[in-house]
Amino acid sequence: MNNKLAYGLGAAGVAAMAVFVLTMATPQAGQRGGMSMTPPDTTALDDGDPINSVLVPVEFSPEAQIGKRIFEGKCSVCHGDNATGQQGFAPPLVDQIYEPNHHGDAAFVAAAKNGVQAHHWDFGNMPPVDGLTDGDVKYIARYIRELQKENGIF
Ligand code: HEC
Repeated sequence: MNNKLAYGLGAAGVAAMAVFVLTMATPQAGQRGGMSMTPPDTTALDDGDPINSVLVPVEFSPEAQIGKRIFEGKCSVCHGDNATGQQGFAPPLVDQIYEPNHHGDAAFVAAAKNGVQAHHWDFGNMPPVDGLTDGDVKYIARYIRELQKENGIF
């Protein structure tokens, strides 16, 4: 899965296409190993650049709207608006790597509660995020799922 060239070009349209290609080229969930998904090479981006271009649904469910607000208060500082990711800070959550069968909602709850050791990306560890209940994080997960679905990730 070599998106080096595509991401190197950096244009939003190209990134969107790469996401599309990734989506199409990914085998069924059952065949996937836990750590086998290779993140794209983002080194050609500048720090703070969005990593994936993300289509936003016209309408979110009421739960996802709550999640969006919480995400914007606690997560988008690193993960970017609409979870596009930010070079140097945090990965895009609207990405095939985080599709529901690979990172279920429990992975979101665990990430917020315990933080995350860097393993997929080179952006360092994610620290635990204070002040959220499991319910709050499930609203966030719902928001991310609806973004993922709009971008062909499910
Ligand atoms: C200080 C920056 C920062 C903040 C704030 C942050 N994250 Fe992260 N997050 C990261 C980084 C960096 C990673 C990537 C770790 C890696 O290399 O896999 C990550 C990874 C994740 C993952 C993937 C976990 C896994 O099992 O691989 C999830 C889910 C996630 N974040 C959700 C959230 C949510 C939800 C919030 C808000 C409540 C949040 N993050 C806030 C930096 C951040």
